[in-house]
Amino acid sequence: MSERLVTMLTAEAIAERVKALGALITEEYKEQRLVLVVVLKGSFVFASDLCRAIDLPLRIDFLGVRSYGEGTESSGVVQITNDLSRPIAGEDVLIVEDIVDTGLTIAHLMDLFRTRHPRSVKVAALLHKPARARVVVKVDYLGFTIEDKFVVGYGLDFAEQYRNLPYIGVVERS
Ligand code: IMP
Ligand code: MG
Repeated sequence: MSERLVTMLTAEAIAERVKALGALITEEYKEQRLVLVVVLKGSFVFASDLCRAIDLPLRIDFLGVRSYGEGTESSGVVQITNDLSRPIAGEDVLIVEDIVDTGLTIAHLMDLFRTRHPRSVKVAALLHKPARARVVVKVDYLGFTIEDKFVVGYGLDFAEQYRNLPYIGVVERS
């Protein structure tokens, strides 16, 4: 069996979109206490580009989560493997996600963070697969809506591989 990668979004298309999202966030978060909460591991590449496209003082923190049980299907049980390094009370939290798939991870994080009394909580996601939604979540800053295919690259993995691809691709087997 051989594996082949088919490009879905080029590095150039991603860069252009991330810059636009950064500009929008820069406009909307003026005078706020912005904290980017990067959901590991998948979001690290998106977050590193997005934070450099935001021209504001901000803080960055990381949250380790594990949302999948065995396979590629979200279990709905989100385990925090590494919590934030500081409190977020009174701050304007922007959760940075690689992809919103079933929505269960984001829904869980929104519930969790609200108990910590931030001033606001919003979501920035590079990708959204609405076909697979199991709960409705609002993505405030969205890169691209994609069809229901398992994608890799630009931080996203399949069995921990492909995170370093500079573009988003679909793995095809034949
Ligand atoms: P959700 O809870 O189903 O929304 O899942 C969100 C997480 O599942 C993402 O942050 C990814 O880590 C992972 N995920 C969902 N779809 C894909 C995909 O197509 N490729 C790689 N990872 C994915
Ligand atoms: Mg993720």
